[in-house]
Amino acid sequence: MNAEAELNAPQRQMFEEVVEGLRRPQKMIPSKFFYDERGSELFEEITRLDEYYPTRTETRILEDHIEEIAEAVGEQSVIVELGSGNSTKTRLLLDHMSDISAYVPVEISEEYLMKTVRSLKDEYPDLSIKPVCADYTKPFRIPPIAKTFEYYVIFYPGSTIGNFRPERAQQFLKTISRLLVPGGGMLIGVDLKKGRDTLEAAYNDAKGVTAQFNLNMLLRLNRELNADFQIDNFEHLAFYNEEKGRIEMHLKSNTRQEVHLNGEAIHFEEGETIHTENSYKYSLNEFRALVNDWFKVEKAWTDKDDLFSMQYLVKR
Ligand code: TRP
Repeated sequence: MNAEAELNAPQRQMFEEVVEGLRRPQKMIPSKFFYDERGSELFEEITRLDEYYPTRTETRILEDHIEEIAEAVGEQSVIVELGSGNSTKTRLLLDHMSDISAYVPVEISEEYLMKTVRSLKDEYPDLSIKPVCADYTKPFRIPPIAKTFEYYVIFYPGSTIGNFRPERAQQFLKTISRLLVPGGGMLIGVDLKKGRDTLEAAYNDAKGVTAQFNLNMLLRLNRELNADFQIDNFEHLAFYNEEKGRIEMHLKSNTRQEVHLNGEAIHFEEGETIHTENSYKYSLNEFRALVNDWFKVEKAWTDKDDLFSMQYLVKR
């Protein structure tokens, strides 16, 4: 066991959250801790995997219906993207719209945000870009927009809404809807229910990248929280929980063992798991019901195999 070490303030905060999760009857670690530098790299790799259909299908839907989607968003709108990352999908929209009043990327990683803004400024010299460095799950402000505009339109691709539990997703929709006036919009990517095999393959790729991504969390805890997880004693586990309508990701202990985080002992039975992520899947009807208190689904576009959907919601 590692000797106790002095953790700095953010590490202390992370330590409290992680240990609290590991003391629950069903152990868990909040999924936000996936995204250290290596985790973000692995995630990008996931989005390019053959089995991981969501990213390429969503892009394809955007490309195939771009005229209609651009029309739904409307010229002279302010596009507010939540978790903008490298803004790949946004470029598709921007390339088909000539008179957007402003683009507001909201991104938690300042480095990522500034890098993306610099390249967008080169590519779209006439576009007004108003970056916001913030955690979009907490209240944030949209900066003043110089040009006149019709509506704010929230852009939220990637089916990230599926990583919230439904009740939490509704809370989030309610909070986000407060940024909008009636008539304002939300363009959102939503992964659809489908056969178990396709779903499970997407989170159990043959190259084992998703497994690496999941296990990377433990390497991070070892490094940043002075923990002593033996990576070989844990396995990636991902399956479709049909009753709950979600993919669950876990890290399974393949032996009875004790792990320490900065001196705190955590016991694992053989086969016991740490729950690390959920990815909820919705039918079009279920999603309509989920948003219905705040938004009307104006239009939903899907691919030919009905794997994924891009939906334009209008605030009530
Ligand atoms: N929201 C996407 C999904 O659930 C991307 C994602 C979030 C993801 N966390 C993940 C993909 C963990 C693989 C593993 O599919």
